[in-house]
Amino acid sequence: MINPCEGTMANRSTEVDELDPIDDILLDEEAIAEQVRKAAGERNAVILVHNYQRPEVQDIADYTGDSLGLARKAAGTDADVIVFCGVHFMAETACILCPDRIVLLPEMRAGCPMADMAAAADVAAARERNPGAAVVSYVNTSAAVKAESDYCCTSANSVEVVAAVEGDTVLFVPDRNLAAYTAGRVDKRVIPWDGFCPVHEEITVEQVMDALAEHPGAEVIAHPECRPDVLAIADHVRSTSGMVDAALLSDAPEFIVATEEGMLYPLERAVPGKVFHPPAGEHVCPDMKLITLSKVLWALQTLEPRVTVPAEIRARALLAVERMLSLG
Ligand code: 13P
Ligand code: SF4
Repeated sequence: MINPCEGTMANRSTEVDELDPIDDILLDEEAIAEQVRKAAGERNAVILVHNYQRPEVQDIADYTGDSLGLARKAAGTDADVIVFCGVHFMAETACILCPDRIVLLPEMRAGCPMADMAAAADVAAARERNPGAAVVSYVNTSAAVKAESDYCCTSANSVEVVAAVEGDTVLFVPDRNLAAYTAGRVDKRVIPWDGFCPVHEEITVEQVMDALAEHPGAEVIAHPECRPDVLAIADHVRSTSGMVDAALLSDAPEFIVATEEGMLYPLERAVPGKVFHPPAGEHVCPDMKLITLSKVLWALQTLEPRVTVPAEIRARALLAVERMLSLG
């Protein structure tokens, strides 16, 4: 295994061709993709890719999925290097689960504005103001916030996690929409944080209805980060990978997909023969699009940029993440 402490230029394989990110305008996509696959083999690296990533990045993935699936893949990998094509909190979760691996985030500026809406000190203060409430943090949080939490959850399992928490009151951080959705499905008091995803918050009922008017008979699949009024008109409310299952199981031939528009690509790939439409408007997460093929190649060549989590924070955050994963 490559020692994470030795992740310097000295570690670079001489067999990996050097390439500056600027070069992607000179090389065609397929040539870069080929070099990525070669470099990943030489580094014994696994490439984990979120469903919202650019299509060409999804095409070089060893695994594409939602936050829960990606965390499970990271936990189970025997690769030396994890290349995380997603946003910062996802790579941090991989670090929490795999402290002895090198975790690369090909673009360090790829963050999540919703995760930035909850600071660890504010969560600790809220816990003091609500003694007796269990703190459940959505995976879209920093490692420091997870370290202040009793449980972690994702959009795929928030209901199961909150139902499993001991006690009858939960402080749910940071997504108020996922908190409200979850609260409606459990027999507990859920105190929401006032955070939200700017991309999903901008999806409106009118936009969904406009798309439905153009495609009558389509079913609506929505991500639980959408506002409650959008969720109320959805036929299916699912995590990103859950959307694939919903489309496969449904008899409907067409769907309006109320989430970030990158999700259309994995749906079209996994569910051939069915048609997927976005709601009206543009719903793009700019952070998710920061990662490009050439940045992935650069990361594999240099073993940078790396995401790390301080040991003390990691140990506490791991408890919350493992409690979630142990629920199955
Ligand atoms: P999923 O875990 O459902 O993929 O969602 C992650 C996310 O950031 C949605 O905006
Ligand atoms: Fe964060 Fe929203 Fe982007 Fe998901 S879509 S990474 S929640 S900003």
